Amino acid sequence: MQLIDGKATAAAIKKEIAEEVARRVEMGLKRPHLAAVLVGHDGGSETYVRNKVLACEACGFTSSLIRFEDDVTEEELLDCVARLNRDQDVDGFIVQLPLPPHISEQRIIEAIDYRKDVDGFHPINVGRMAIGLPCFISATPKGILELMRRYGIETRGKKCVILGRSNIVGKPMAQLMMQKEFGDATTTVCHSHSAHLKKETLEADILISAIGQPGFVTADMVKPGAVVIDVGTTRVPDASRPKGFRLAGDVDFDNVAPLCSYITPVPGGVGPMTITMLMLNTLEASRRELYITYHD
Ligand code: GUN
Repeated sequence: MQLIDGKATAAAIKKEIAEEVARRVEMGLKRPHLAAVLVGHDGGSETYVRNKVLACEACGFTSSLIRFEDDVTEEELLDCVARLNRDQDVDGFIVQLPLPPHISEQRIIEAIDYRKDVDGFHPINVGRMAIGLPCFISATPKGILELMRRYGIETRGKKCVILGRSNIVGKPMAQLMMQKEFGDATTTVCHSHSAHLKKETLEADILISAIGQPGFVTADMVKPGAVVIDVGTTRVPDASRPKGFRLAGDVDFDNVAPLCSYITPVPGGVGPMTITMLMLNTLEASRRELYITYHD
């Protein structure tokens, strides 16, 4: 069994990005600029956004953090999105999800200029990804593909089973795993109403779990020799930890790992790659090659 070290891989990629940024700055080009919009004080979102800002520093990017309280109106948030769309210095930006229930996440996402949508959540990017056109690919699936590529894991012709059908992970992961240019695998998506779940997972050469239920994937569900990718990051109360919780993946790691050819740990697997792929998307946005102009 080989452990897939997402933390080390992410650090290596951030170093590559920082080197390209240094070359660009030397040529007189501006630093890539990522802006993040954070609403409220949710602990998970605070951590994600702080880590995104730190990753910007590591990559030599400019970053901006724009904060709103929970009672921000949808109009105020839409105004902020419009301002960021117009700001010539901002290459890409994200609005951290989830948003409070009185705000339509979809309305906010659709207001973002798709050419600055480095999360890859705008329907134009989602649609372009689905038909294999250049676009921003959402960070978690992109990070998983990059991990498998860097570890030399063959996906072509393999049977890939994805647990979960979220817009952020399950659906885009399935799209990419089945596409010829990416996974080129035979891909099945399972969810909370799938019948014969264990029968499906036992057929998987590559099993990707993104359901957010600690310990859901048990050893009896995994084919010997499978590649197991754990996207789960659930906060589980743990009084022995300084923060009072620990992060738990979907996979019963201790019992599943001995069966696998490769497995990602939690933490230190997919998580660090997700933020690094956001940096890569921002670098791509700053090159302005994917979508040529921001201003029609
Ligand atoms: N909330 C959880 N993951 C993400 C992400 O990748 N992007 C944004 N904007 N919000 C999130």
